[in-house]
Amino acid sequence: MPGKNIALIGFMGSGKSTVGRILAKELGRSFVDLDRLIEKKSHKTISEMFRTSGESGFRKLETEVLQEVLEGREQVISCGGGIVLREENRAALRANASVVYLKVSSDEAFSRVGQSGYRRPLLDVADPFAEIARLLEERDPLYTAVSDVIIDTTGKTKAKVAEEVLHKLRVKGLL
Ligand code: S3P
Repeated sequence: MPGKNIALIGFMGSGKSTVGRILAKELGRSFVDLDRLIEKKSHKTISEMFRTSGESGFRKLETEVLQEVLEGREQVISCGGGIVLREENRAALRANASVVYLKVSSDEAFSRVGQSGYRRPLLDVADPFAEIARLLEERDPLYTAVSDVIIDTTGKTKAKVAEEVLHKLRVKGLL
């Protein structure tokens, strides 16, 4: 539906923030990066939050901030990779946004984020590649189930991905 929010979901390193910024600019909409907003509201980095409140503390705040943001309209929202884990988040996204899944392979996710585990607490483990493969397998069905549009990002520039998102949303009458 024109005017609805556009939410970008997908694994860490799938390009949600960069693609989101391009889309927002193209469409003249405001851009919201959920992770950055959570950090702003909590006055902590995501890594600090995981350390002090655990993943569950982070997930609770993530849900609250998502719900608050989804009260707005006509925004482009980039969501953290774990947004689909809670059913209430999936329901809120489905009801209030056209949801775009930026799909990435585990190889590509690893080459994009594998070396920056310090900024991504879930990948701050002995074998980040195995963890990426495990998380991706668990989450891919959830990303797929909640999305209106799926874009395979493998080997594509961010500009190309953004162009495909716009095209697919238009074809589906979502823009
Ligand atoms: C997470 C992804 C991160 C961030 C947090 C947890 C996840 O966001 O929300 O570290 O569970 O996949 P990005 O996908 O933007 O890296």
